[in-house]
Amino acid sequence: MDQLPIFMNLHGKPCLVVGGGAVAARKADLMRAAGARVTVVSPMITGETRRMVDDGRLTWQEAVFDPAMVVGNRLVIAATDEPQVNHSVFDACEARGIPVNVADEPDLCNFILPGIVDRSPVTIALSTGGRSPVLARLMRARLETLIPAGFGRLADLLGRYRQRAKDRILGLETRKRFWEDVIDGPIGNLVLAGKDREAEDKLAGLLDDREAPTDTGEVYLIGAGPGDPDLLTFRALRLLQKADVVVYDRLVAPAIVDLARREAERIYVGKRAGNHSCSQGDISGLLRDLAAEGKRVARLKGGDPFIFGRGGEEIEVLAESGVPFQVVPGITAASGCASYAGIPLTHRDHAQSVRFITGHRRGDGLDLDWKNLVEGGDTLVFYMGLGNAREICSQLIAHGMPANRAAGLVEHGTTSRQQVHVGTLTTLPDRIAAAQSPALLIVGDVVGLHSRLAWFEGSAGADPSFLSGSPDDSRPVPVRSAA
Ligand SMILES: C[S@@+](CC[C@H](N)C(=O)[O-])C[C@H]1O[C@@H](n2cnc3c(N)ncnc32)[C@H](O)[C@@H]1O
Repeated sequence: MDQLPIFMNLHGKPCLVVGGGAVAARKADLMRAAGARVTVVSPMITGETRRMVDDGRLTWQEAVFDPAMVVGNRLVIAATDEPQVNHSVFDACEARGIPVNVADEPDLCNFILPGIVDRSPVTIALSTGGRSPVLARLMRARLETLIPAGFGRLADLLGRYRQRAKDRILGLETRKRFWEDVIDGPIGNLVLAGKDREAEDKLAGLLDDREAPTDTGEVYLIGAGPGDPDLLTFRALRLLQKADVVVYDRLVAPAIVDLARREAERIYVGKRAGNHSCSQGDISGLLRDLAAEGKRVARLKGGDPFIFGRGGEEIEVLAESGVPFQVVPGITAASGCASYAGIPLTHRDHAQSVRFITGHRRGDGLDLDWKNLVEGGDTLVFYMGLGNAREICSQLIAHGMPANRAAGLVEHGTTSRQQVHVGTLTTLPDRIAAAQSPALLIVGDVVGLHSRLAWFEGSAGADPSFLSGSPDDSRPVPVRSAA
């Protein structure tokens, strides 16, 4: 180990920052967040330092640095662009045994400021021993995705009951196991789901009568987004990796199902070529029964479960049966496809609103209020509209929309197979004759922006199957940055 990591209590303690620029402001803010009383010494201050001084977060000593100023401080940081000042700060602290850090000068530091993942009171500090700040930053970003935001609240709850548990559960080993069950079981889950009060009641109840926590099953209704696994939320990933069973359907990319634990059971409930998909009733019943067996069930749905996803129907059955559930929103196809196609769904110059519409035929025809759609005027997004695209375009024209209104189709949006076809209400239907599902139809002036704002395209030669390809099939390949 190059350095010994320690956590220092700075509450109410004086600390000094030498320098008045942006770097000094960042360092001063960090120490202030840890409760220190921070003084900034500099002949002048700018930007953020000035703001922090003005609102009382920092004290400013308007002066050039003098070595005597370090006396009495717990920590000193120098962040000036004058090497001789930085050296003089370092020498003054070294001579008095005061921890000192000179920004970007590893040789002038006797302590370093680590990368921090802050879930206060849980804090993770990481360092590469000064070898690579960029590596430290990337590692930190990974940790940020792994540690749920609710861990801080969980730690607070555990802290409040620590003494009571010590009094009630005498053996060290038994107590350790008790806490492990609490953290990894239903009580920990409740906190992470934002149900703090319920979690606390359960924990208090457990400690009062020392019943074993009952791990009832639970269903996580998770929006898996439109295809690119990077579009999953942190919560979706965390719950997916916790699940004992994953129930998924056709629009969920294989790479996303693969993120579940290796030993988790996978149940496909979508349509396969030539076969019928499970009925909605069967799926809801399956979720209920799996949860009743005490299993944690991840129900993965494409996009967002509450947008043309029948998520509401599935959890109604769970609610009626008293099965606990959580809903994790996902990026809906309209947002994902529009972003990856460079088609802003709203735009101050072109569209003040957007409508999500089902283009799915019910019985004999498309049962839509065409007049209302045409009069609305702004962006129209048709889900499940590929098979009826020609009829949708001609109905819009027949009800008064200009025949040259821009229209586009995003096929396999956000995946390596993404294709974007653009045209007008008149020309688009012929251009998309060979397009395949899943595809999203977008109508409105914003479609015209695609030619200027496109930044992403599917890679040539990707596996032709959206459903059965290798996990990498749905990875995006940016072609150029939007900048
Ligand atoms: C049953 S709806 C499910 C919508 C989903 N719940 C959502 O929020 O995106 C299925 C339709 O979503 C659209 N869709 C889903 N994923 C897509 C993708 N990757 N590219 C284009 N359209 C997609 C298609 O219109 C498809 O027919």
